[in-house]
This record gives sequence, C-alpha cells and structure tokens, in this order.
Amino acid sequence: MPAYSATVLDHFQNPRNLGEIDLPDAVAEVENPACGDRARLSLRILDGRITEARFLAEGCPAAIAAASMTTVLLTGATLAEARALRDVDVAAALDGLPSNKVHCSVLAEDVIREALDAYDAGVPSR
Ligand code: FES
Repeated sequence: MPAYSATVLDHFQNPRNLGEIDLPDAVAEVENPACGDRARLSLRILDGRITEARFLAEGCPAAIAAASMTTVLLTGATLAEARALRDVDVAAALDGLPSNKVHCSVLAEDVIREALDAYDAGVPSR
C-alpha cells in the first residue's frame, strides 16, 4: 500500500458523511476513466449554501478518503465556494496524497462539478 498520511487513513477507515441524502437537492455520480472507480455525491442546498453532503464510493483508499474529505469541505460552503474547490484543495486537506494517487482526488472535483451543474440546470434528483 502507498504511504498514505494519517489523515487519509483516518478518512478511509472512518469515512465522514457516508450514505445518501433522501430527496437531495443535487446529486451526481462519476467514474474515474483511468481506473473505473466511482463516487456518488448528494447535496442538501438551502439559500445558496450546502447544508449537508453525503457520499458513496467504490474505489481505492485515496478515492474514498477524498470523497469523505470532500463532504467535510462542502458542508457549510456557499455554492461559489463549492465551485471553487479543486482536487488539489482536497488533497491538501488530506495532508497530501502519494504521487501515484494524486489522480484519485480528481474524482472528488468531478463529482462536485457535476452535482452543481445538475443543480444549476434544474435537473431533478435521481
Ligand atoms: Fe481509482 Fe484511486 S485508483 S480513484
């Protein structure tokens, strides 16, 4: 196993906000084309702010830790702050990822963008 930070291991072993929001305001599911790992994000949005974020993921420890940290970073964020969140921010919040695992945090950025795009487009939650 790559040398993960203690924060990555903590979020992998004790994922935060695991699961799915009932009747979410926005939802998205993405697949990492490089490896086939998947993440699903559901959001509760109130007055332009994310009040709840939950995830489901199938993937490597880095992908699961990144999805978990993403929900932590999104909770309480405005929609503009959420849009500005990048994979490097998620990786930094995890105290870094091994160089061969940096791509795993991209899954988090992609699923945030897809969920917010769906929300902006008024796509019904599925
Ligand atoms: Fe697939 Fe990490 S190896 S997301």
